[in-house]
Amino acid sequence: MAHPETGIVKDLTLSDLADIGVLGLGVMGANLALNLAENGFRVAAYDTEADRRASLATGDFADRFVDCATPEELLAAIRPPRPVILLVPAGDATEEVIAMLSALADAGDMLIDAGNSDFNDTRRRTAEIEACGQRFLGLGVSGGAEGARNGPALMAGGTPEIWDRVAPMFTAIAARYDDEPCAAWMGPDGAGHFVKTVHNGIEYADMQMIAEIYGLMRDGLHMAPDQIAEDFDRWSSGPLSSYLVEITAKVLAARDAETDAPMVEKIADRAGQKGTGRWSAIEAQRLGAVASTIEAAVAARNLSAAQDLRTQLTNASDPDRGTSSTVGELMPSDLHDALHAGKIIAYAQGFDVLEQASRNYDWNLDRAQIARVWRAGCIIRSAMLDDIANTFDAAPGHLLAAPGVNQQLVQLVPALRRTVAAATLDGIAVPALGAALAYLDQLSRPRGTANLLQGLRDFFGHHGFERTDRPGTGFHGPWVER
Ligand code: 6PG
Repeated sequence: MAHPETGIVKDLTLSDLADIGVLGLGVMGANLALNLAENGFRVAAYDTEADRRASLATGDFADRFVDCATPEELLAAIRPPRPVILLVPAGDATEEVIAMLSALADAGDMLIDAGNSDFNDTRRRTAEIEACGQRFLGLGVSGGAEGARNGPALMAGGTPEIWDRVAPMFTAIAARYDDEPCAAWMGPDGAGHFVKTVHNGIEYADMQMIAEIYGLMRDGLHMAPDQIAEDFDRWSSGPLSSYLVEITAKVLAARDAETDAPMVEKIADRAGQKGTGRWSAIEAQRLGAVASTIEAAVAARNLSAAQDLRTQLTNASDPDRGTSSTVGELMPSDLHDALHAGKIIAYAQGFDVLEQASRNYDWNLDRAQIARVWRAGCIIRSAMLDDIANTFDAAPGHLLAAPGVNQQLVQLVPALRRTVAAATLDGIAVPALGAALAYLDQLSRPRGTANLLQGLRDFFGHHGFERTDRPGTGFHGPWVER
């Protein structure tokens, strides 16, 4: 491999060397590379598909790209210590590319995985790569293709020195909120990918609640998509102001070019997933945290796929379903306020998962900083996140325990309760809104029902329990023979 200390690498002089490399020029990789180039950075670009390279080498900012035909050329074209962003599908492809690149790289070179990787893989890879003397950064990137091109939210995890090397580039290309870049180092090893995973978990819950409100409007209030779009459009400039509410209005208003029917009516109601929402729910369970809104959203997507069974069971459970119209009796602001309350609770669960993970993995995650990074560029960007950041600055406990949030809930929860009750009576499923309400109802009641669970566990398994009237553990009920 040519060495840059000679001043000549390939046909590049030292000053021509790229600031950073991008391996994988699919939609995300190409857009991130263009964003870097537009911000004045020189980018070495490599992909196995020559036409992807060619479109960068001949398009906008072509003079800022170094077109590399092999991974060796890619490494040789970057100024050391050499950062390379990998943008390949998470899983096996990422695993293979990391092994291939690590075998070619020198000590000190930096591999940056910008895919939606499982943070458990990132933790393992960090240890493996760092053991070879190279550096590894797990980078959560949010904002889809548009964000990658014009300003994503970036969540980095790994050794802080790698972040110091790449921060000038990443803060330059990131989205900005009030001129603050939405890019930050979150913590060591898997912290960045974990934060991105929970971001996606909240994204799942947020979208599911939006879909449930749409379902109540469609099936409970018999509104047409363009009428529903008008409501979401109006809501997008109030307290619910967010990218997801904004695009909900657009999706609902769009018409199918072929049939002129509302586009949403032509879309099959089966939603897939790539895994990050599911991972959020699984990791929450592992940590003993509660992410019931995210779990409900994942389950709803799973059920959406069971179309045959859903058709088979239509009206099988309750022949009277659909004969009442309790949703029609709700107050005009109820659906808005129910969504607002549900969102606050989903965010609270997501941030609690982050807090539990931070303690478990010694990451020292800063939830205020995470909320700030999520204020722009990412899919869950919303007006609420600025308030959440300020709330965590002032009160670092559970989000729902912060006085301001508590006051908001006092205002909003009656609407959530009416909405969930009405939906239930009318037989319209609202699993994520229902999970949010149940979470709050459980959390805000000092006396629960786990005493009976403990009694049952002791009865059949001699598991022992604590008593309310004296300290100690391992007490048994009169059903256990002594
Ligand atoms: C983002 C998105 C993006 C993608 C996820 C979720 O932050 O830009 O979250 O990462 O939409 O992969 O996709 P699924 O819904 O297919 O799991």
